[in-house]
Amino acid sequence: MASQVLVAANRGPLTYALAPDGTLDARRGGGGLVSGLSAALAEQPEALWICAALSDADREAVRRGVSEPGVRMLDIDPAVYHDAYNGIANSVLWFTHHGLFDIPREPVFDTAFRHRWDSYVAYNRAFAEALAEEAAEGAAVLVQDYHLALVPNQLRTLRPDLRIGHFSHTPWASADQLDMLPDEIRAELLWGMLGADVVGFHTWGWANRFLAACHLDDATGIADPHFSAGPQERYVTQVRRSAPRHKRADVVAYPLGVDGEDLRALAGRPEVDERLAALRAEAGGCRTIVRVDRTELSKNVVRGLLAFRELLEVYPQWRGQVVHFVFAYPSRQDLQVYRDYTARVGELAEEINAEFATEDWHPVHLYVKDDFARSLAAYRLADVALINPVADGMNLVAKEIPVVSDAGCALVLSRGAGAYEELRADALTVNPYDISETADALHDALSMPEEERTARTRRLAEKATSLPPAAWFRSQLADVRESGPRRG
Ligand code: G6P
Repeated sequence: MASQVLVAANRGPLTYALAPDGTLDARRGGGGLVSGLSAALAEQPEALWICAALSDADREAVRRGVSEPGVRMLDIDPAVYHDAYNGIANSVLWFTHHGLFDIPREPVFDTAFRHRWDSYVAYNRAFAEALAEEAAEGAAVLVQDYHLALVPNQLRTLRPDLRIGHFSHTPWASADQLDMLPDEIRAELLWGMLGADVVGFHTWGWANRFLAACHLDDATGIADPHFSAGPQERYVTQVRRSAPRHKRADVVAYPLGVDGEDLRALAGRPEVDERLAALRAEAGGCRTIVRVDRTELSKNVVRGLLAFRELLEVYPQWRGQVVHFVFAYPSRQDLQVYRDYTARVGELAEEINAEFATEDWHPVHLYVKDDFARSLAAYRLADVALINPVADGMNLVAKEIPVVSDAGCALVLSRGAGAYEELRADALTVNPYDISETADALHDALSMPEEERTARTRRLAEKATSLPPAAWFRSQLADVRESGPRRG
């Protein structure tokens, strides 16, 4: 049966594992995008989620026709998939949007890059074709993230009747970073997304950067963008596309928040209590600075550790009084630069411990094994949360911690995080590159009077829960549906 609501994302709500006896077990997919979307779709039982087969076990599931209701997995040629996912999405687009290139050496846009780009186009096309096949007349399609930036335009050509949204869970690149892309690629990317009726970002900052990229660009030939006040005190930013098709795309911010009730229920489960007791014992009565991240270059884990080291150097009164829990779960280990970064995090944690540890005090406690219940326990325990990404689309950890904190938590927050836009008034904000400023902020956070910490945490939790996933999804769906009749 054709679907009225479709979602497309590289990663699906589940992934398969092949047991030794050849049976396939379905497991929940990982990451922030998946948990946000899964929560949102819980109230859209008719929706179809189209995703890629990520592993051999997923491909085997597709071949055997194993599937779960509401999910369609695409078995894309593994070499094409690898080039699109690792070669372009993770190595070029992710780096561009987060400003991660080591400029003297990268990026290099040569023939090999252009071959990988062809794979990216083909991989996007596979999604566009599947969506075109599955969508009912006039259906709403919400396409997710930089992996699928070309889908809106490709799908628009195949199925002009559809209402299409695209949402970026990442930042949008600064002009300097975006300008490094070859002109034709940059234009293809912008036009790809402008195939949507509504182009969504987590913040107005990213939305405005996107619009500026469209506006200033000769290569794209995009003309006449203009801003107008939208309903509910929002700004709706429009890009009018001139010939051959007069068309409008609204560029809108939908700042994803957390579902307070759900999260508190999860954080109150017995397995979380158990882990909390274990962490508390480990902290041994010390104050705690907590971070929970993927070991991701953009999360700035290494500078976070450097700032903690500087805290112990510059404010020696904290020695023996504070521990830093670093939960840094492995990510994208197919890429050498991520393996190197993960190794550096481990080395630096050891260096700090070697320098400062005493018989009964270890300053850094590093965990690399992903354990959601333990993360929630750490959220509850934290006196201070360190969220210092160089760039981050939103950073939901910054919103989750105040919601479940037991006794209030001071938030040290980088201005590179999307969450900065909403949370800055009640956070201690830092330049993510400034180790000394971050060390000072950690000191201030540890020294914050309890009543102030509690009051700030309460306000942070209020803001963090103002657009929970279901409402976030609903408002996009409503905007996309509404966008249809005015198409020119
Ligand atoms: C994080 C980002 C998303 C991105 C996802 C991909 O959740 O916020 O923007 O889509 O990572 O991660 P993956 O592990 O699937 O490459």
